[in-house]
Order: sequence, then C-alpha cells, then structure tokens
Amino acid sequence: MILAAGRGTRMRSRTPKVLHELCGLPMVLWPVRAALAAGAGRVVVVDSPERALEGVLPEGVRLAVQPRSNGTGGAVVAGLAELDSSGEDGEAPVVILSGDVPLVSAETISELVRAHERGGADATMASTVLEDPSGYGRVVRDGEGAVVAVVETKTDGDATPEQLLIREVNTGVYVFSARALREALPRLSADNAQGELYLPQALDLIRADGGTVAAHAVADERLVLGVNDRAALARVRALAQEAIHARHMAAGVSIVDPRTTVIDVDVQIGQDTTIEPFTTLRGATRIGEDCVVRHSYLIDSLLEDGAVVGPFAYLRPGSVLRAGSKVGTFVEVKGSDIGAGTKIPHLSYIGDADVGERSNLGAGTITANYDGHAKHRTTIGSGVRGGVDTAFVAPVTVGDGAYTAAGSVVTEDVPAGALAMARARQTNIEGYARRREDELRKDASPPESRS
Ligand code: UD1
Ligand code: MG
Repeated sequence: MILAAGRGTRMRSRTPKVLHELCGLPMVLWPVRAALAAGAGRVVVVDSPERALEGVLPEGVRLAVQPRSNGTGGAVVAGLAELDSSGEDGEAPVVILSGDVPLVSAETISELVRAHERGGADATMASTVLEDPSGYGRVVRDGEGAVVAVVETKTDGDATPEQLLIREVNTGVYVFSARALREALPRLSADNAQGELYLPQALDLIRADGGTVAAHAVADERLVLGVNDRAALARVRALAQEAIHARHMAAGVSIVDPRTTVIDVDVQIGQDTTIEPFTTLRGATRIGEDCVVRHSYLIDSLLEDGAVVGPFAYLRPGSVLRAGSKVGTFVEVKGSDIGAGTKIPHLSYIGDADVGERSNLGAGTITANYDGHAKHRTTIGSGVRGGVDTAFVAPVTVGDGAYTAAGSVVTEDVPAGALAMARARQTNIEGYARRREDELRKDASPPESRS
C-alpha cells in the first residue's frame, strides 16, 4: 500500500506533492514500481478525493480514496478497505510505503519483509540513522533497545527536547501483520500536535496489546529519504540521478561529466555511446550503440546505432535518427524520421518530415510544417542535396536524388533527380554604386553653391 494523498503543503505547489517529477516519472511511481518489482500481490495507492493520481498509475494498480486529509493513519484505513475488498489473501503481510519516500528499492522492501517474517513480529518498521533527522519521526527505544514509540517532530509539541536529539528515524516504510493492523487502526487518536491520525501510533497500540514491534535498520539511508519540500526533492533527485548514471556506465556508456548530464530513469543507451557534457536525455529516449550526443536536449527520441547529435541540438518527441545519421549544431527536429546516413549539419528546423537515406540538407533548411491552422508532412527522398536556406512548405514531396537551389522556397513537389529553383533570379544593376555616390554628394553640398 502506498500512501499518497494530500497536497504536501510544504511544497507550496498547486500540484499534489507525489505528482512532482523525479527523473522523468511522477514521484509516486517510484515506490509503485518498487512494490511491483518486489512481487507485491496487490498494490493499492491512497489518493485524495480529487483522484489526481488516477491517470498516472499503471494498469492493475488500485486507487483508494481517503475522504479527508486526516493523517497517515487515515490513509491506511482507506487503503486497507480497498485491499480487503479486492478479495486477495487477507492474511498476507501488508507493506506500507510512502509516496514521498521514492527511492525505496525492491531489495529494501524484500529485505524488510524477510526481517519481519524472521522476527515473527506483528509490525516491523524500517528505520535509519540520519546526520540531520529534522522533520522525521524519531524512534524511541527502551534500555534493552526495544522500540517503545515513534514521536513526530514536524510540528512543535509532539516531541520532548531529549527526543529531538535522537537520530534514528522512522522511514515511513513498514510491514504489518494484516490482523494486527486491522485491530489497531480503529483505536488511533487524533490527540497530537497536528490533530491527525498518526500511523506510527499503531505500533504503540500493537505493543500495548502484547504484540511485537520491531525496527529494521536500513543501512543505506539514501534509499529512504523523505520529500516534504522542494529542497529535499532536489537532494533526492541528485541521488536518483547518480544511480541512473552508474547503471549506464556499468553497461558500457561513457558519460563524460555526470554532474552536467541529466538522464531520465526510462532512457535506454547502448554500449560504447558517448554522452558529452551538458546533455539532457528525457522521457522514453532510446539511444543505440556507438552514438555520440554533444551538449544537446533530447525528449522521447530514438537514435539508431552510430547516430551523431549536436552540439546544441534539440530533438523533440518522435524524432527518429536512423543508423549513422547526423543532426548537428543548432538543429531542431520534431516528429521526423531521418534516414540512415543523412546529414542535417547546421541551423535547421525539421518538423513532421520523413527524410530518406544519405541525403544532405544544407544549413538553414526549414520545413514550414504549420500553415497557421494544421500541421503537414514533408517527404524528402534518398540522396537528396538540399541547398542552404531551403524552405520546404508542407505538404510537399521531394524525389530521390533531387537538388534544391540555395534560398529556395519549395512549395511544389520536386521530381526525382530534378533541381528545384524557387527564388527570384538575380539582377545586377551596373554602375549603381557610382550613381549612388554622386547623388549623395549632391545632397550634401550647401544650397548656395548649387546653380
Ligand atoms: C511521516 C511519518 C514520520 C516519518 C516520515 C518519513 C507519520 C505521522 N509520520 O512523516 O514518522 O519519519 O513520514 O518520511 O506518519 N499521506 C496521506 N494522507 C494523509 C497524510 C499523508 O496519504 O492524510 C501520505 C502523504 O502523501 C505522504 C505520506 O503519507 O506521501 C507521508 O505523509 P507526510 O505528511 O509527508 O508525513 P511526514 O511528516 O513526512
Ligand atoms: Mg513526508
């Protein structure tokens, strides 16, 4: 179960906290994916009544609605109702994750479930030790080291000054025996600084009933950091990015300067591809082997093996660069298929176009794809030689091997092998400069000297 309701007021955002993006995915999808990867039998996400998460959850993941924002305990009540009504094994342990603890891994979840089962506990909380624990619930232990309670610290009034010195924190990740959880939830009280139902109070109640509550320490605290504000989101993003880079580098991708390279989580990159500094690879971008991307911004684009991009290229969604093609400096491509070996080296905009193989489009080639109302496609064949500053006014088709003259505005189809010249012919006005100088001299001389 993933708790993800509420806006997260400390984000100061019109967007619910868990929909803020983390390396190309809404934050909430990170724990959802981890739960699925850990083999969860049923995944329920608890949302607010606006159901803002409905559109982003993968198929098969259920949405539960927490009718009002009355705390993490209230969220679990709503989530449990949905789990029970799903008719799945009602006695399986219930794993609780937080939508704002996004880096939790499938391994961490499995490790926690194993610890829970090994210890025969009724509830096992994942804890970790933080250098700066501010804002987190602190784990209070007794003289024997047994967990006594979790005290909240986000709002003044829940914790004593001594408790604020504790550096072991509740990560918001737990495993509960379904029965113990069901029995504890109706007894949560809102008698605390925020007037909310705190889920960690269920641990106190289970212990008071004679049940066992365990804390399982997660060694790598980076995996369980919470995001309550944008500064924390940026810190967690940096950690997620580091892990994404490490995965690609381990698979044979050169990332020359990871610090200046942004790669979303679902981007795929082939072996021996080099990503040079100041590059951003977003969304579902897929890059083949032996490609080079220099100082460029790519969104939802596909590069086949050996493609070369940049510096300063902008590939928008639906750009397909076939094997060995090149999109160079200050070139923007959108919704276009660029054939194998084709080169678009400089200062161009190619939108909604299909370009064949081994064509060369000169500097300043522009597809005029938008007539002010609708978009149209440009079709350019193979072996085409486009002159510099050619504008293709779509819809238009250029046959294989055709040429266009520099500065042409191509509005009509060009047959294969033809040269399209679509510009005014040049006129040279002989002696123009001399005449102009004479005129200027006459204008400048004082009126009395004119006769
Ligand atoms: C919570 C824990 C705290 C822990 C910390 C770890 C409680 C009371 N406190 O604090 O001990 O150290 O997480 O990150 O549980 N949510 C709902 N409905 C609600 C309130 C919250 O679904 O009514 C969801 C939020 O979307 C969020 C998660 O529960 O994803 C945690 O809520 P948040 O308000 O961030 O709790 P913290 O103060 O961080
Ligand atoms: Mg939180």
